[in-house]
Amino acid sequence: MNWARLQLSGKNGLRRDREKKEVLAVKIDDVKRICVVGAGNMGHQISLLCALAGYQTVCTDISEEQLNKARGFTAQYLPERVAKGKLTKEAADAAKANLRFTADLKDAVNDADYIIEAAVEQLQVKRSLFARLDELAPPHAVLATNSSYIVSSKVADVTRRPAKVCNMHFFNPALVMKCVEVVKGPHTSEDTAELTMELARRLQKKPVLLHKEIRGFLVNRILSVLSREAMSLYDLGVASFEDIDSAVENALGHPMGPFRLMDLTGIDLAYLSRMEGYAESMNPTDMPSPCVVAKYSKGEYGRKTGKGFYSYS
Ligand code: 3HC
Repeated sequence: MNWARLQLSGKNGLRRDREKKEVLAVKIDDVKRICVVGAGNMGHQISLLCALAGYQTVCTDISEEQLNKARGFTAQYLPERVAKGKLTKEAADAAKANLRFTADLKDAVNDADYIIEAAVEQLQVKRSLFARLDELAPPHAVLATNSSYIVSSKVADVTRRPAKVCNMHFFNPALVMKCVEVVKGPHTSEDTAELTMELARRLQKKPVLLHKEIRGFLVNRILSVLSREAMSLYDLGVASFEDIDSAVENALGHPMGPFRLMDLTGIDLAYLSRMEGYAESMNPTDMPSPCVVAKYSKGEYGRKTGKGFYSYS
């Protein structure tokens, strides 16, 4: 929004300016309804996390199969937490009542105060989605992307509310990992960044704020240095992926080695994010490593498909 131009357009312009700003202002206590777009690896857990924190939550996906998997996860997870003594029966029932699933995007976003996009890691898909979300969502709603690498300025420009667009990046498994990266782009308002930090705290997370946009943010940039080297050592035949994982787990104390972790976060995500990076830089060293390409082309994406580097029953 070009505020300067609005202010120059006389009294009516000033009134429009004020009205617009009022519509734009959302306080954390006004956030009651959250919509999570995407019921995949991240979306199903982010939506349950929001429901557990007391938000009226809708999880939407174009795939009924994905929605059914997310429903199934919730139906299994909540009683398990109760049985484990980690959640009261009342809290589990409340979370269940707070969460609904639908394939109808319009229905999912039409009264949302905050929208978290957790769709596939492909820029063009995200751009089309953000244009649609901007059309369907109330004008006050914030549009955040849970993208692993893509900065929000790449999607903010298709909306009429760039000040209300930011990155809100969760880690896998989202119900467990405490960190959330909030990235403030040049278009993101202070209010949106602060609101997002506070929302993350209310979801029981420990958010970190990036004042500048950078592809991959903090964590995935740091992690990719380690996993790139691990994949190169494996591709060169220096050691098996099991031994590389074992070395990282037992020498460095990481909870999971890089291959086990890729199986958790998704080999499809590793492939697509590297391809997106390569499309941007045109630097061949940014292409996915041969072992990732081989797994991706066989459809072996990790835990979600039952097979990645390891096999899962
Ligand atoms: N979903 C939900 N909860 C899970 C889970 C899952 N997939 N896996 C484990 N948990 C929970 C368990 O219920 C248990 O909870 P409790 O202690 O409250 O009862 C707790 O996590 C510990 O589980 P386990 O004892 O079964 O297993 P571990 O101790 O081995 O922990 C782990 C599992 C938490 C996944 C651990 O191995 C870990 O921290 N791994 C590293 C994860 C990581 O690095 N994530 C970041 C990846 S990068 C990323 O996400 C970027 C993004 O852009 C893709």
